[in-house]
Amino acid sequence: MKKVNLKICVGTMCYVMGGAELRDAVESLPQNILEHLNVSYSPCLECGKGEQAPPFIEINGKRIAGVSKNSLIQIVKEEIRNVV
Ligand code: FES
Repeated sequence: MKKVNLKICVGTMCYVMGGAELRDAVESLPQNILEHLNVSYSPCLECGKGEQAPPFIEINGKRIAGVSKNSLIQIVKEEIRNVV
């Protein structure tokens, strides 16, 4: 089964800006979504000095900034629809 790679930044900046909530949201996804995901956590996705706001995720190699709990779920569902 083809899976979607999801990496969530749990570095300090992202963590305090909502990364902790993202981790909880992913962990509480239903099994029928989780089975399509390879979830990992990163100490930093090289946020650097960019103008984009944390928290950051990376989904199948695409880095996305300013992710909320709700947008994360939408992003994940859409990527699963497109890829799997
Ligand atoms: S701390 Fe999250 S991208 Fe750097």
